[in-house]
This record gives sequence, structure tokens and C-alpha cells, in this order.
Amino acid sequence: MALRVVIVEDSLTVRRRLCDAVAADPELVLIAEVSDGARAIEVCRALRPDVIAMDMMLPVMTGLEATEYIMAHFPTPILIVSASVNRGELFCTYDALAAGAVDVLDKPRGDEADGAWERTFVATLKLVARTLDLPYAHVYGVATFYTMYRREPGGRQTIRMCTNISCMLRDGYAVLEAFEAYLGLKRGESNAQFTLVEEECIAACANAPCAVVGTEYVLDITPGQVPSIVERLKAHPHPESEVV
Ligand code: FES
Repeated sequence: MALRVVIVEDSLTVRRRLCDAVAADPELVLIAEVSDGARAIEVCRALRPDVIAMDMMLPVMTGLEATEYIMAHFPTPILIVSASVNRGELFCTYDALAAGAVDVLDKPRGDEADGAWERTFVATLKLVARTLDLPYAHVYGVATFYTMYRREPGGRQTIRMCTNISCMLRDGYAVLEAFEAYLGLKRGESNAQFTLVEEECIAACANAPCAVVGTEYVLDITPGQVPSIVERLKAHPHPESEVV
């Protein structure tokens, strides 16, 4: 699907050049072109583009102010297209990067080889559109904190054994160890059929210790029941919501 682009540029000549470059690329579609920062906010709020090409020096509201607002209210990948020869614009650009804009591209000077600047512009625009602009540590923290995210392929179904307070007090760890022994897996490991996860509270504390597999809750489990639970799951799998 084509990336939806908004161009924010007050110079008619430069805007025409940016719009023509977008229009010439089949992977991009121009959904709006505007000439000031306030209007940029309005169209981004209404149209939610995949990427924005933003000038810094704009009437009504500067590109920096518009970038700060957009990143605070509906974060969108922004490529700043600005004139680095202008010292004031250069400093605004640094601030816009600090506010969350992804990258900066110099405006065309007019002495580039035919189509060279346009090729760089569309390539950068596509790259920026794919960027979440989240720090690696943030993404890694989310992926490792939430047990429903996986960082490697899992089994066809996941046994999420609760060991939170109620389940722990009613021998949840003994049940988890029984799953480990019967499946031949440590918690967090997978084979083709199963992934075994040590889970936080699954909201069935009245029937602790318990596990959830797909949409099926397995309640009041004893270690001795584990083999029959596993065999039943093999015969009647519950892979709902698995991303393998
Ligand atoms: S503590 Fe296990 S379900 Fe709540």
C-alpha cells in the first residue's frame, strides 16, 4: 500500500518540486499540501498521514512548533526539509529533532544533477515513514516486560501458568515444575507444540493454582493432573491468539 504523504512548505516553487517528486513515485501518494504550521496540524489530525515533509520557517506557526504539537498529540514520522545555510533555521532543525522529528534533508539548491535531489528525497521519505523513532531500550523494555510479546518463534499453543500470590500460596510453583518435567521445557522455552510461560495473575484467583491456554482456563490444577492436561491439549489444541 502506498505511503500517504503530507507536504508542509510555504515556498510555492519548492512545494511544487516536493509534490512532483511524491507524485512520480508509485509507492507514495500525496494526501495534502499546506503552507503553514497551523494548517499542517489540522490536516495531520484529520488525515493521519504515514509521513510528513516539514519546512521549518513557516507563516502562522513555525515548523518547529508544528512538529512539537504533532509529536505530542498524534506522533507521526516527520522529515524536516530545510535550508541548512540559514543559521536560524538550522537551530530550529536541531530543536525539531529533539522534539521527535526523524531526519533532516537540505532543500534543493538548484545545481543538482537532474532528478538527483528528488531521488534522495523520496528514498529518505520512505525510510523515515518506516521509523517509529522509539529508543531501542524502550522497545526492548516493552517486548521483554509483556509476556504476550515473543522475541523468537513459539509453539503452537502457549501454557501460561500463573505463579502470582494466590497461585503461589496454593502450590503454583509445584504445578509449573510438573509442566516443565512433563513437557521437557524450562519456563520461557518452546518446542513445536508448546511454549511454557510463567505468568502473572490471570484473574482466576478463586481457582488457584491455574493456567490459561489460548482462551481456555485450566483451574484448580494439581501437579498430578499435569500429564492429562498436556495430553488433552495435544488432542484438542487451543492456539487462539498465538502469533507464531
Ligand atoms: S494469582 Fe493466579 S490467577 Fe490470580
